[in-house]
Amino acid sequence: MNIAVLASGSGTNLQVLIEQLHEDKATDINISVVISDRKQAYALIRAKQAGIPTQIVSVKNYNNRIEFDAEIARHIECYSAELIVLAGFMKLFQPPFVRKYHNRIINIHPSLLPAFPGATAVADTLAKGVKVTGVTVHYVDEGVDTGPIIAQTSIPVYDTDDEESLHKRIQIEEHKLYPKVIKWYAQGKIKVEERKVITDSSETL
Ligand code: GRF
Repeated sequence: MNIAVLASGSGTNLQVLIEQLHEDKATDINISVVISDRKQAYALIRAKQAGIPTQIVSVKNYNNRIEFDAEIARHIECYSAELIVLAGFMKLFQPPFVRKYHNRIINIHPSLLPAFPGATAVADTLAKGVKVTGVTVHYVDEGVDTGPIIAQTSIPVYDTDDEESLHKRIQIEEHKLYPKVIKWYAQGKIKVEERKVITDSSETL
């Protein structure tokens, strides 16, 4: 199965997907392209080091977000990607793109959704003083981090945590959860019934 990974930043999740999926011949999962909206994204260097094609699609080169999305869609088709994996991709898609790839776009988010959606999830978690947070992998719908939830892992928040220490522990869990979920997807083990996602997997998280 070909997948496209979209990343705007450092790409630690991408790195894990390269090592545990793309380079593991037992999985039959191939990252056919890495797309970024930022030409400085370190994720692009990680992709190049692994010999994976990269594409930069920068918002400023398009008249509007529909055209930006269409260019991303063109690359998705060109590289025959069945699944679109958002790994720290900091742009929201417009409804036509989301409809075109219904249940074929997944995202990883650093909180237990529906708590703390949006770009400042870890800071928001600390500001609210919650004692348990975690990681969510979900389908992307037309809202901000509102799509059907596929899998979650919880982690404790310590009194001594700051944004950096908490995000670091969250990322350790992200790096375990994302490859697992993508493998389930490739094996046809994920079924969506409206808002409810059933993962037909005997593997525990
Ligand atoms: C992750 O923490 C993810 O939850 C969020 O963006 C971050 C990306 O990190 N959506 P990285 O670029 O994969 O290191």
